[in-house]
Amino acid sequence: MRLSQLLKSFSDRDSQIILAHLLGLKSSELYLAQDRELEEETVKGFYRLMEERRKGVPAAYLIGEWECLGRVFKLREGILVPRPETEILIEKVLKLLPEKGEVSGYEIGLGSGCISVNLLAERENLKMWACDVNPDAVELSLENAELHGVRDRLMALVGRDFEPVKGKKFSFVVSNPPYIPEAAWRNLPPEVKMEAKEALIGGERGYEFYERIAPQLSEYITDRGFAAFEIGHDQAQIVKELLGRESFKVNIYKDYSGQDRVAIAWKY
Ligand SMILES: C[S@@+](CC[C@H](N)C(=O)[O-])C[C@H]1O[C@@H](n2cnc3c(N)ncnc32)[C@H](O)[C@@H]1O
Repeated sequence: MRLSQLLKSFSDRDSQIILAHLLGLKSSELYLAQDRELEEETVKGFYRLMEERRKGVPAAYLIGEWECLGRVFKLREGILVPRPETEILIEKVLKLLPEKGEVSGYEIGLGSGCISVNLLAERENLKMWACDVNPDAVELSLENAELHGVRDRLMALVGRDFEPVKGKKFSFVVSNPPYIPEAAWRNLPPEVKMEAKEALIGGERGYEFYERIAPQLSEYITDRGFAAFEIGHDQAQIVKELLGRESFKVNIYKDYSGQDRVAIAWKY
């Protein structure tokens, strides 16, 4: 069978990502290769994966990797698939990081490591400490750090909130925490539910993470340092209030669809 025949019936993004992965190509290269004759095994493998996809398994878990800010990250079931919104958080932090001088950061909730690893890959002068309550996430982040050549500058630890770094101070703290309210869980699509609940659900109201972190934040950030958080589209007001109470000056930034998505809080 020719690639062009498959592309006619499977034109959606996930199918193309899976197909490209099987052929060792980038999705953008598929159309240039459309005259290629496919081996029977490849076609069978593709249909097998598409059947799993139809049952609700995310494409990232089927191919075992996903892209974030142009870098490929290994992915496994139970670890959050990097979202485009998180690229905005990473880009905002990068704009604030100097390219010279020692800089240290702390990430709460590593997941695949997409935030810390992208930051480390873009800033040679940066060292990151980071944690996740999920030991699989810590292990996977270290694999991804190795893959991108930044393993020696990532101190990844199993732990909650600031527990693993008591007494330390950082130039900045970053997190894409779980921020969805408990009640929304049952309405999430089955494929999203395959990403661990502890990665998504922030508590009954959703914003419990910021509530818990805000009063501790100042203790872990150097003067004129900052914190950067991904937030739910309806959480700007409460996050501003929680951080404002601790004397942080907060700016909110929007995502590609115009929703509030990133909070940057400055310590003065
Ligand atoms: C929304 S995911 C973000 C993962 C990754 N940073 C990303 O942006 O794709 C949140 C991650 O935080 C972890 N987590 C949840 N609560 C935590 C806590 N209190 N302390 C540390 N990690 C936590 C979860 O296991 C999950 O991996």
